[in-house]
Amino acid sequence: MNDILPGQVARWQEMERVAREVFALYGYREVRTPAVEHYALFARGVGEMTDIVNKEMYVFEDKGEEKLALRPEGTAGTVRAYVEHGCHVEGLQKWYYLGPMFRRERPQKGRYRQFHQIGCEVLGAAQPAIDAEQIAMVDDLFARLGVRATLKLNSVGDPACRPAYLRDLKAYLNAHRDRLCGDCNERIERNPLRVLDCKVEPCQPVLREAPRLLDRLCAPCQEHFDAVKAGLDALGVAYVVDPRLVRGLDYYVRTAYEFTSDALGAQSAVAGGGRYDGLVEILGGPATPGIGFALGQERLALVMEALGREPLERRPVVFLVSADEAGAREALKRAAELRKAGIACDLDPRGGKLKSQFKQAERARARYALVLGGDEVASGKAKLKDMDTREETPVELDGLVGRLGRTP
Ligand code: HAM
Repeated sequence: MNDILPGQVARWQEMERVAREVFALYGYREVRTPAVEHYALFARGVGEMTDIVNKEMYVFEDKGEEKLALRPEGTAGTVRAYVEHGCHVEGLQKWYYLGPMFRRERPQKGRYRQFHQIGCEVLGAAQPAIDAEQIAMVDDLFARLGVRATLKLNSVGDPACRPAYLRDLKAYLNAHRDRLCGDCNERIERNPLRVLDCKVEPCQPVLREAPRLLDRLCAPCQEHFDAVKAGLDALGVAYVVDPRLVRGLDYYVRTAYEFTSDALGAQSAVAGGGRYDGLVEILGGPATPGIGFALGQERLALVMEALGREPLERRPVVFLVSADEAGAREALKRAAELRKAGIACDLDPRGGKLKSQFKQAERARARYALVLGGDEVASGKAKLKDMDTREETPVELDGLVGRLGRTP
């Protein structure tokens, strides 16, 4: 788990601000759901056999209540809220959320036990056009954040075409058990699709030759996949079809996608999502198609950092330095005046030597410093010092708001 210190927070705020702006442009509205849900929600929604639920979820008892869990992801809780509040009667819903998620994973770069997601869910549309629109929106969001990521696209079929494929895949994997790693062997029965996701080098020859679901899609899934690709082409969004892209959650059907970045090393996915047409029904609601995605904020921060993108941090326009008691009183009064006018300013409440106050002004990255003492109070005039150029210009204290209000 990580602390996000004030020096890093500007980047997080930028991501969140731009995400909110982009989501609003595409008609998404924010939803906030609890970080704790019933264990059964994730067992049913995400899948009891997935690593996320089976190995990584923080589960606990709460005095005689049903088993509870810290949410490992946001989709199940969002869909629960949609069902619980009967939101289907209001037609198509486009929702977004942000917040902490929890998975007991082995911590490494880009992988944490408490991490933060920004995610979107569309409930009530089965058309491939919404898949394309949503994927293009994520692409748009990354572009606005100055991030380049590769879009990988696949179809994971549906209950009509997947079962027969899984039988064949299992048979193939079983026939090559001895050339696959321990993890793969363990997954063949439990979660054979995930075997395709294995990154262990010696497993690759077997996995490369494995039967591909993309070659076995039923006609409606094929049609859907083709339409999503055509939609992305029309929107000018570049993608790579990756037949081995599988997702770690059971609810996906048809469209599956990920945005990856080389800046991340092994944990290369910055965002992932896909369609989950059966999930609302599984969670007790009326049959409702859905599609969503989530991005990992820690990973996005790493990518932005690797690209050398400096976050914009608001800094004080002026730092008021006091030379004596009269100056300190004046500084407090003038600071209140400036703040009332919406001009960010600061001062060192400890007073002390001019040198140490100037040091503090530098640390705060103030644009200007203004020294106030008995003389300045008496004359109503002071010198405004530009902290970058060291240049000093005379100012009237009563004209400060007007003078600094024009600072960009
Ligand atoms: P996911 O692929 O499990 O999908 O997670 C989405 C993103 O969250 C990942 O691409 C990654 O950036 C980030 N992430 C996941 N685990 C960690 C971790 N341990 N540490 C840091 N970042 C992490 C979902 O969660 C789905 N609910 C997405 C979705 C929404 N599908 C449909 N709707």
